[in-house]
Amino acid sequence: MSQPGTSVQICESCGARASELDATNICADCGGLLELEHVVAVQPTDLRALFAERRRALRGPDASGVWRYRELVLPSVSIDAIVSHPEGNTPLLDSRAVSRWAGFERADRLLIKHEGHNPTGSFKDRGMTVAMTQARRSSARAVACASTGNTSASLAAYAARAELPALVFVPKGKVAAGKLAQTIAYGARTLFVRGGFDECLTLARAASAELGIHLLNSVNPFRIEGQKTIVFELLEQLEWNAPDWIALPAGNLGNTSAFGKALREARDIGLIDRLPRLCAVQAEGAAPFARSFEDNFSERLTVEPETVATAIRIGAPASWNRAVRAIRETNGVVTSVSDDAILEAKAVVDAAGIGCEPASAASIAGVAKLRASGVIGADDRVCAVLTGHVLKDPDAVMSYHGENSSNRQHANPPIEIEPRVAEVERILNGMR
Ligand code: F0G
Repeated sequence: MSQPGTSVQICESCGARASELDATNICADCGGLLELEHVVAVQPTDLRALFAERRRALRGPDASGVWRYRELVLPSVSIDAIVSHPEGNTPLLDSRAVSRWAGFERADRLLIKHEGHNPTGSFKDRGMTVAMTQARRSSARAVACASTGNTSASLAAYAARAELPALVFVPKGKVAAGKLAQTIAYGARTLFVRGGFDECLTLARAASAELGIHLLNSVNPFRIEGQKTIVFELLEQLEWNAPDWIALPAGNLGNTSAFGKALREARDIGLIDRLPRLCAVQAEGAAPFARSFEDNFSERLTVEPETVATAIRIGAPASWNRAVRAIRETNGVVTSVSDDAILEAKAVVDAAGIGCEPASAASIAGVAKLRASGVIGADDRVCAVLTGHVLKDPDAVMSYHGENSSNRQHANPPIEIEPRVAEVERILNGMR
């Protein structure tokens, strides 16, 4: 394969090759996960100019924060085949309150890339637009995923746009209300599996292999290609000056893998001249990757997961090997944070008018932890990714600010009053 603008799938374990249209996700020889490799024929300065030019588009694929980078995502795609909302184009924010809470004196040291601004409210849309486009290109008759809620919401929406039947496997009783509502509303056939996410994924993989359904979890290499654009877009927003750190929450490790691949490619192509360090953050109760990192990844661990951050309630992450590579190549760090730290970080992000779901706040809590221990320096430039919207998990908000909230520093419980101005005045006087 050497034709510019073409791609091939390569097994990350044994190096065997498969065609771009192969939809099995795993190597026929050894069962390893497949990875896409593209032949990019454009010079870095030309690429930067091309991306900037496309940013001006008002409609169509160029207006998507994924497809604008298509030479690095899926170069052979024809524009008519793309299933797009569009997605991406998420803001890079700063916040004095969040920076200060995380231990930075200057607000511009910590920037927040808010992926909750995607069409279905999470970063999953970036991978889904590519995987759904590819599913249609390879004539899928139905699509499926296992999910803690965001992937299923995204899959449901994009399957409806692609007019493909969709099946989702979710852990019964463990999906946040907003995500479940989206999945059902967008019309995916929703299966409540009696088990956790890990059982859902095992079932979804087996069912897909046996029944010929296209599996669109992040084991699907096209999902990874789309999610790389979080990194491309944030680098472009920084005018291709790489930050010192990029922090993100980690569950099944698809996104950590995507970030590693994006950074490697951006450096190899010449879009950036140095690699930021990745900081992957897990919830303490679901932290097999963080525990393995402490031991230089000598063992592939699994745990029985439990955390308030249901999005990352995962004990046997699927994209393990490629995430290890991402951490090693970027001289990265993996850490874990308690549920209390996650909820406090979330309350700070929410009260800053930015808002995010619990799992997303793990990235901010992780940055604060590493800042406090000195691993992240006071002058380091950090970009933390918020992966999902505040409305994804309304129960988490109401429970933090509701009953028994008096011992929580950032609690903002509603106050019941009689309809009298005097009562309003009393409350107004008590406000800062
Ligand atoms: N943040 C949010 C909001 C998520 O929904 C997920 C994963 C992650 C972080 C972690 O990303 O799995 O690539 O390491 N959600 C998946 C789902 C598992 O089914 O929606 P990861």
